[in-house]
This record gives sequence, C-alpha cells and structure tokens, in this order.
Amino acid sequence: MRNINEDTITQAVIASFSDCRDGRLRTVMTSLVQHLHAFARDVHLTEDEWFKAIRFLTEVGHITDDKRQEFILLSDTLGLSMLVMSQNNRKPSNCTEATVFGPFYVEGAPLYNNGEDISNGAKGAPCYVSGQVRGAGGEAIPDAQIDVWQSDEDGFYDVQHLDEAGNVIHRARGRLKGDAEGFFNFRSILAEAYPIPHDGPVGRMLAAVGRHPWRPAHLHFMIEAPGYETLITHVFRDGDKYLESDVVFGVRSTLIAEWKRHEPGVAPDGWEIDVPWYSLEYDFVLNPSEAHA
Ligand code: BEZ
Ligand code: FE
Repeated sequence: MRNINEDTITQAVIASFSDCRDGRLRTVMTSLVQHLHAFARDVHLTEDEWFKAIRFLTEVGHITDDKRQEFILLSDTLGLSMLVMSQNNRKPSNCTEATVFGPFYVEGAPLYNNGEDISNGAKGAPCYVSGQVRGAGGEAIPDAQIDVWQSDEDGFYDVQHLDEAGNVIHRARGRLKGDAEGFFNFRSILAEAYPIPHDGPVGRMLAAVGRHPWRPAHLHFMIEAPGYETLITHVFRDGDKYLESDVVFGVRSTLIAEWKRHEPGVAPDGWEIDVPWYSLEYDFVLNPSEAHA
C-alpha cells in the first residue's frame, strides 16, 4: 500500500478493514470513514481547523469525569442523541413519545409511596402531579414503576448541589409505583427552565455558533412495567419561552402540558398549601414489548 493520494485514501482505509471479523463493526467503521472523509473534502478542512477540532475533543475528554459527561452534552447539542433515540424508539402514534435521557438520572433514587412528597426540601413553588399509566390498547397498567427527576427553582438538579461533606442529598427525585388501576400522584415543586452545563468546551461551541444553552422547564419520567417497553421521556411546561429552541432538540408537542396555577388552598389529595401552587395532570401510554404484543 503505497503512493496513496487524496483521491485513493478513502478506499485504502476502507480496504484496511477487510480482515475485521465483526461484520457490524466493519459496516460502522466503513461508513464512518466515508462520511468523515466526505466532510473533510466538502469543507476543504484546513490543517489549522483539523488541529482546533483535535484540541476541542481533547478538552471535551479532559472535563469529563464520573459526574460530568461532556461527550454526551456534545452529542445532545448536535442533535445526535435525539436522532439515535428517535430511530430506536419508534412507537405507534397513540403511545407517549420518548425523548432524551439527559445526564441527571440517578439509578436507585429514593423510594416513595404513591401520593408522597418527593421534593425533600427542594426549592420551588408547590406542585401536585397526577396521572395514569395505560397500555396502547387503553388498558390500565397496574403497579408501574415511575422514576421522576427534575430541577429546582434555580434550575439545578440535586446532583449539582453537594453538601459540606461533598455528598448529594436527593431532592425532587424519586421512585414510586402507580396503583392497581395505573393511577399515580405525588407532591413536588414547580420545574423551571435551566441552562445545561455550559462552562466547558460545549458551552464555548454553543456561544461560537450563536446558540443559547437553555432547556425549557420539564419533568423527567422513566416508566417501567412488565410486558411493556420502558418509556424514557419528559413532560414540558406549556408557555415556556425555550420550547421552540431547546438546546438538545428534545421537545415534542405531544409532551407539552399545562401546569395549572392555583391560589393558596387545598390540593386534590388534601394537601393544604398557603402559597400559590401548581398542578400537572398527564397520562402515559406504554407500547407493549415485542414478546408481549
Ligand atoms: C436534561 O434534561 O436533564 C438534560 C438533557 C440533555 C443535556 C443536559 C441536560
Ligand atoms: Fe432535565
């Protein structure tokens, strides 16, 4: 293999994969090289630009640790996370749509009983959340596990606040089960819009291309029930000014709901609230898993 030039380099690299025994890996690597080279030709990438890109990816790596995943933020802000998620989670139109997972999920979040207060002291206006989990045929799904997590009124998740000893206290996050008819409710706080972490290379990239780092206010849900595909989604707050420009492209109109504002009073579960409060009612429809359909 000699005298390779700019016209023959792509085929030479692809040919170098010919002994790869993993067929899928060979397919992926071949396509990656084709697109990477086509991109470099398309923009006539300069050496200076190539080096800047290497430096950028190096910075993305350096800021990444077990708490901060800048590569996922990069994928999110370039729409790759939403594309990969969408093409792997196609559902019948009557099912609740999925959206990005995001970096703030915590496995094994605190367990609550249906109806309890998951805020655990998080800052924000009181909010009563209720709904039902059903299957695509309209059937109630009993005992679904509902994982919920959200930001506080300052736009931060619990995992972004450490106490003096450097520990996280879980707030506005929890796991609970719906009842035998699929109904669930919990007390929490009002979700607010927040900027994704933008003090690193991804934030600099956003600023350089004239984009803001904000996500519209939302509640995250992961809903699991035997016989159904796990649903990972958000419910977005109607009226939020960032609904049309979510930095991670995650908004679906079917996921936008009204958070109703109420004067001080009593919530449907008897919760007496002496300040203005909000309520959200949203039902989730799960797709039967293939084995179950
Ligand atoms: C989130 O909604 O938690 C999120 C999603 C993508 C990037 C950053 C945050
Ligand atoms: Fe979020």
